[in-house]
Amino acid sequence: MQKKIEIYVAIDTGSVEEAKLLITKLKPNLCGIKIGKELFTLGGPQIVKWVQDLGFKVFLDLKFHDIPNTVQRACYVSAELGVSILNVHALGGIKMMKAAKEGVNSSKSNAKIIAVTMLTSHDQKSLHEIGIKQTMEEQVLRLAMNAAKSNLDGIVCSALDIKSMKQSLPKEFLFVTPGIRLENVKADDQKRISTPKNATESGSNILVIGRPITTSNNPERKLNEIIESIED
Ligand code: C5P
Repeated sequence: MQKKIEIYVAIDTGSVEEAKLLITKLKPNLCGIKIGKELFTLGGPQIVKWVQDLGFKVFLDLKFHDIPNTVQRACYVSAELGVSILNVHALGGIKMMKAAKEGVNSSKSNAKIIAVTMLTSHDQKSLHEIGIKQTMEEQVLRLAMNAAKSNLDGIVCSALDIKSMKQSLPKEFLFVTPGIRLENVKADDQKRISTPKNATESGSNILVIGRPITTSNNPERKLNEIIESIED
């Protein structure tokens, strides 16, 4: 029997109506909902509440990256929305991540706060383009260890990164992995992808899956297929 794995469906739609239509096709006992920059900009805290009222857990994916004081306050108000997970960019540094954690701690919530290491849309070439000389592996490990030093609950990373760094990180650290694609399908703008089963076997605790489910004719069936593919 596989360990219990959580799936958050990324709802990246161009309108609140479209998002609501999609979300009502899903079931809160099978997945949580990830609300990112596009949907939050359109729907604000009201859409978070609407989703929570249907019984879904919410991952608020706003990837804060700013001066420590601003991030602390943003994390405080996000946590007060009652979301289950929120996040910052590890590239903001240890001082910023510690401030983010303080923001969550000062709220009434027990939201998990995690850090994005390198976006799964990056590859070695695009790292060099922004002036990072290390290999992707070194860079992701450095950022993950900084997140652990800042007492964050885990990281967002590609499932391909987990095996090489698990032993350097706290035992209870959460690995949240986007860039999930079923076999033989298009990767869209994602570069470092894994199948749901490989991601789980690599040690991912939470899978973030968007377009493979949201662009399907039958999102609920696709989600079930994915769950079955993990349990196989
Ligand atoms: O549609 P797709 O499955 O590629 O969606 C992945 C989701 O995960 C998107 O909402 C994207 O913003 C988010 N994400 C990511 N890579 C990260 C962090 C978050 O793709 N490192």
